[in-house]
Amino acid sequence: MRMRKKKWARPELAASPFFVDEPEQLLGKWAGSFRKKQPVYLELGCGKSPFLAEMGLLHPEINFIGIDQSADVLGVARRNISAAYERAGEEVGNILLCAYHIERLPAIMNENDRAARIYINFCNPWQKKKHHKRRLTYPIFLRMYKQLLEDGGEIWFKTDSDGLFEDSLGYFAQEHFALLRKTYDLHAEKEWPENVLTEHEILFSSEGIPIKAAIFRKGND
Ligand SMILES: C[S@@+](CC[C@H](N)C(=O)[O-])C[C@H]1O[C@@H](n2cnc3c(N)ncnc32)[C@H](O)[C@@H]1O
Repeated sequence: MRMRKKKWARPELAASPFFVDEPEQLLGKWAGSFRKKQPVYLELGCGKSPFLAEMGLLHPEINFIGIDQSADVLGVARRNISAAYERAGEEVGNILLCAYHIERLPAIMNENDRAARIYINFCNPWQKKKHHKRRLTYPIFLRMYKQLLEDGGEIWFKTDSDGLFEDSLGYFAQEHFALLRKTYDLHAEKEWPENVLTEHEILFSSEGIPIKAAIFRKGND
């Protein structure tokens, strides 16, 4: 669903210390842009990101980068993150946001910007076959993520879509990712390592749709 234009989003983002206006300038230098040097987790298509706000506070030992193509959506994410940190009496020192198309990730990150983990939460399922190649789990994307993941790095994937989930299990296998965990009903799982809810996860589960999830580890090829 397309979001209505938010006139305040761009100016607020431009004034924010945790929004990166020209991410190309950080190519190879993301680690040095955080307050502390520590492992990096990426969220691709982060949306309004109550997820990042909660994860950032739960894990001060991790630096988070949230990327979304829409500045309007990121304007809301910025407000959500600021409000959560303010409530906790903390400053936002371990999250950076940027507006970018995931297709163009290699223009802003290279082998010096390795991530220990990538989250893909509720990406667009692109149901029509002719659009499958736009899926953020499609093999061409997975090959790109492999360049950015540390050895042993992981991708954590959640979706409401049965079709996207089944196809994605195939895409990850094709690209030699090891499947560590999978579930067809995440909220019924007792043993899942950690699950922080995303905006779309709350929406879909309130409609009774089971959440599918999987964790993959980068292979050695
Ligand atoms: C369905 S929302 C999910 C948001 C959030 N991850 C969640 O779980 O609530 C998908 C988000 O991905 C973003 N997005 C879709 N395709 C993208 C792309 N190719 N590059 C960057 N962002 C993308 C959209 O702007 C949107 O905010």
